[in-house]
Amino acid sequence: MGENDKTLELIKRRLDAQKGGGDQAIKKQVAMGKLTARERITSLLDNESFHEYDLFVEHDAREFGMDRKILAGDGVVIGTGTMYGSPVCIFAQDFTVAGGSLGLMHARKITKIMDHALKMRVPLIGINDSGGARIQEGVNSLAGYGEIFFRNTQASGVIPQISVILGPCAGGAVYSPALTDFVFVVDNISKMFITGPSVIKTVLGEEISMEELGGARVHSEITGNAHFFANSETECFEQIKKLCTFIPWNNTQKAKIFPAKPPKKKYNIEKIVPLDPREPYDMKDILKSLVDDSDFLEVQELWAKNIIIGFGRIDGETVGFVANQPNYLAGVLDVDSSDKAARFIRYCDAFNIPVITLVDLPGYLPGADQEHAGVIRHGAKILYAYSEATVPKITVIFRKAYGGGYIAMNSRHLNADFVFAWPNAEIAVMGPEGAANIIFRKEIMEADDPDKVRAEKVELYKQKFANPYVAAAKGYVDAVIEPAETRDHLLRALDISENKVAIGPEKKHGIPPF
Ligand code: HXC
Repeated sequence: MGENDKTLELIKRRLDAQKGGGDQAIKKQVAMGKLTARERITSLLDNESFHEYDLFVEHDAREFGMDRKILAGDGVVIGTGTMYGSPVCIFAQDFTVAGGSLGLMHARKITKIMDHALKMRVPLIGINDSGGARIQEGVNSLAGYGEIFFRNTQASGVIPQISVILGPCAGGAVYSPALTDFVFVVDNISKMFITGPSVIKTVLGEEISMEELGGARVHSEITGNAHFFANSETECFEQIKKLCTFIPWNNTQKAKIFPAKPPKKKYNIEKIVPLDPREPYDMKDILKSLVDDSDFLEVQELWAKNIIIGFGRIDGETVGFVANQPNYLAGVLDVDSSDKAARFIRYCDAFNIPVITLVDLPGYLPGADQEHAGVIRHGAKILYAYSEATVPKITVIFRKAYGGGYIAMNSRHLNADFVFAWPNAEIAVMGPEGAANIIFRKEIMEADDPDKVRAEKVELYKQKFANPYVAAAKGYVDAVIEPAETRDHLLRALDISENKVAIGPEKKHGIPPF
């Protein structure tokens, strides 16, 4: 064979392998509104930057007719490429090849690119579109999953791991995304479940569609498994690219610095918070009044809406925000919002992103439902996450900071670096009404006009405790600040925290209330 023939053979082999499961299967994929694995990769990465590896990998399974089956690339595409010119590792399961099912060689390809990402300290992006463990390969498929989970865990907190669910992600497959940092889903396309509808029907006799069981909305609004919801694959890729502008490439680096930009004028911080502490407002307006160009990227926007988490920039540098949302359940802490905030704080801490906490909450949500759902255990996670975090930690109290909520939202007592309060802040064990009813109960009951006495006592409690000055007198609050100066205070606090050093006691690891 001459040189030309060899080149022609290579081109032919490449083209054959890149056809995936063939025309019929690709037609079916397109009919479902899905892109192919390679189209997805090239849509996401910088133009012409993708380099594929292991294109010619073959399975060696022999049972159940597998000896006669050629599976192109064993159903997964792996390689390297760039985003914004910086390198990333990527894999995309190819549903057109045996339903993207995971056999031994398929798993080996994924673990190879995972090892590469971890060694090279670059982000790993995994596009999931698979029927789960390849049934014909038995325990070898299970081994493959286990080896992926092990690597997800090893890489956790070292490199960003992003999972994109663009098709079924069934059975064992779900646990790899669940171990990664950010999960992206697309309406009508993503389906994530451990046990599918047919098994549920057999075992429980219940009929449920895949969409109702584990569609994109279910995981964005109910379970909290997904972090970003999109209406199309194209929108999803834009969201991933946007997220990647905010995060560092590994745990020894900082996120890219952008030119500083002031917030947009229409978000006037002085006009957002109503004076009446019972009146709600949208904390997202406050966030937009603080971050550069009013550009705030919210994470888990549709789940546990009583707390807001996400990224913004101050003076060009990425900051993570955790903020109560008075517009939803008055911004209380509960089981889900505690989980949501705690995990995000740990992400920021692992990747050197300072955390700014914006406080306005009446405390933890009372009730038997929450108690029985484990609000003690879940609520403890937020205390743990803040106490453990060593990145710069800054707090601003706008209005209410009552009881356990005050402590939990990055108070001085959990080792906050800076705590600021607005003049209208109320820092107390509970709201003035509740407090007056308890401590002056007898006096109110015995009064000729209980309502009048109650109102007087509420006012008395407000003057005594429901203000920022008692906390400021003890140094729990560093400064009572004018609302209009909030961003300046944050800027100064971030500037001085640039080289923060905080070293805790030596240990193998703590035992967070998982
Ligand atoms: C082998 C599979 C497969 C699998 C799909 N295929 N899933 N092959 N192992 N797990 C194959 C199909 O046989 C078919 O091959 C092709 O992929 C396309 O599948 P369809 O069923 O035609 O597609 P669709 O109608 O879109 O349905 C997709 C699906 C369904 C919902 C994912 O295929 C399905 O329910 N699959 C099984 C899902 C599941 O229960 N997985 C769990 C495995 S156990 P042909 O040749 O006909 O084109 C597991 C435990 C691991 O994962 C635990 C680790 C902790």
